[in-house]
Amino acid sequence: MQVRPEGWVLILDFGSQYTQLIARRIREMQVYCEIQPFNFPFEEIERASPAAIILSGGPASVWAEGAPVCDERILSGGLPLLGICYGMQLMGRLLGGEVLASRTREYGPATLEITRAEGIFSSFRSGERVKVWMSHGDRIEKLPPGFVAIARSENSPFAAMMDESKRRIGVQFHPEVIHTERGSEMLSNFLFDVAKLKPNWTMASFIEQAVEEIRRRVGEHQAVCALSGGVDSTVAAVLVHRAIGERLHPIFVNNGVLRKGETQEVLDRFKRLGIDVNYVDASERFLSRLKGVVDPERKRKIIGEEFIRVFEEEAKKIRDARFLVQGTLYPDVIESVSFKGPSATIKSHHNVGGLPERMELEIIEPLRELFKDEVRRLGEELGLDKELVWRQPFPGPGLAVRIIGEVTEERLNILREADAIVQDEMLKSGLYYEVWQSFAVLLPVKSVGVMGDERTYENAVVIRCVHSHDGMTADWVRLPYDLLARISNRIINEVKGINRVCYDISTKPPSTIEWE
Ligand code: XMP
Repeated sequence: MQVRPEGWVLILDFGSQYTQLIARRIREMQVYCEIQPFNFPFEEIERASPAAIILSGGPASVWAEGAPVCDERILSGGLPLLGICYGMQLMGRLLGGEVLASRTREYGPATLEITRAEGIFSSFRSGERVKVWMSHGDRIEKLPPGFVAIARSENSPFAAMMDESKRRIGVQFHPEVIHTERGSEMLSNFLFDVAKLKPNWTMASFIEQAVEEIRRRVGEHQAVCALSGGVDSTVAAVLVHRAIGERLHPIFVNNGVLRKGETQEVLDRFKRLGIDVNYVDASERFLSRLKGVVDPERKRKIIGEEFIRVFEEEAKKIRDARFLVQGTLYPDVIESVSFKGPSATIKSHHNVGGLPERMELEIIEPLRELFKDEVRRLGEELGLDKELVWRQPFPGPGLAVRIIGEVTEERLNILREADAIVQDEMLKSGLYYEVWQSFAVLLPVKSVGVMGDERTYENAVVIRCVHSHDGMTADWVRLPYDLLARISNRIINEVKGINRVCYDISTKPPSTIEWE
């Protein structure tokens, strides 16, 4: 599904670690943009008709063997063009300038002096100095014909260049990173002054176009989707429901390892939204398959496989189901198609992997152009409650990976109670939305305690609370002692089966966020 509004920007990826950042900055300015690999075919570009093109940075030298090169016609096609770092060097090489490959990289902050307040510097003054972030090896020795320098740095008289038409610009630094002062302003000048685009990409306009596109694609057929209770699958379902109404059949499988009150919450939410849900309580099936299993990977595998079985059985009951809606997000899409080339396969959603082929379903991914924070804004625009839209991530295998050892009904009940107290106290303290995740883990390790006059011999609970940007790295949160004390007291007093509470002070890496 492609929902491209008028006046969008194509970003060609040459492998820079900052390419996604370029996309984020541009979308923040309400201009739609898309990342495609550097070798995106020229014919496809013509068909997709972007209004401007950005060539990203990249780690290679333009003279290296196998260096990524885009179709030359892109550079002289008349579209506004911005080359960043590698992108600029490539413009230099392909347009007839002289580019010197250097063995040393200039990396880090540099001072830029603007020599002509035009193009991306139209809102600056000539002679003005700003701090910028450099990361490049090659450098331009001689500008391509028709280009002039518009900024210089201590190391280069050509830190930025522009052609006579004032629509093709190259910069040696990275305007998209926060270390570049007024970098967003430069990008904004490119979009609105140079390329004359309009800030027309809002969530309201996205909904309108997505709804139209989904209706056109699904026609009179039926679609199914799996609800996990999380943000992505909920937003995807609500959006598709807006397009095709009752012909969407959301299926919510209770896998027996959900948190306290979660099932009811999901069902109530959809009831409020006026969307019918096929609810399947398969908890017994899952728990009986998990019986005696202690290996974390086995647990994950069992839950994944069982989910597909249950979902397939339910989906088969829906006559003429032809489409499967998935909540895949843009970072997953980029990860698999960007730079490596358009042929790389897109990774399937962990929950329903393998299902579309088995059931011969066509996939609809209405969120595949959106970043997570955009999905949250979309959720708000669709009228979803803040509690859902801003809630913390919860793993697909649920509480099963938060119980060390065998998953039993009794252990699940203990963990559910302890976890509910953690969530309750985090919400009351106002810290819930400030952290990446906060939850409880059950350790079936018995220790001695004393309660009243009685000796106890019970399990331990670990509290895990981390800050993270994307789940890839994490640091434990320095929660206030008073809050930890409250959580600990409440768990020990209110949850039967726990007589000890510990706090996890491990970072990721080398630990992971979840315990299994
Ligand atoms: P780890 O434990 O690998 O977790 O540091 C990183 C982030 O991913 C979440 N997570 C999962 N999410 N299915 C999911 O949907 C899974 O199997 C899964 N495993 C871990 C975890 O909660 C954390 O936010």
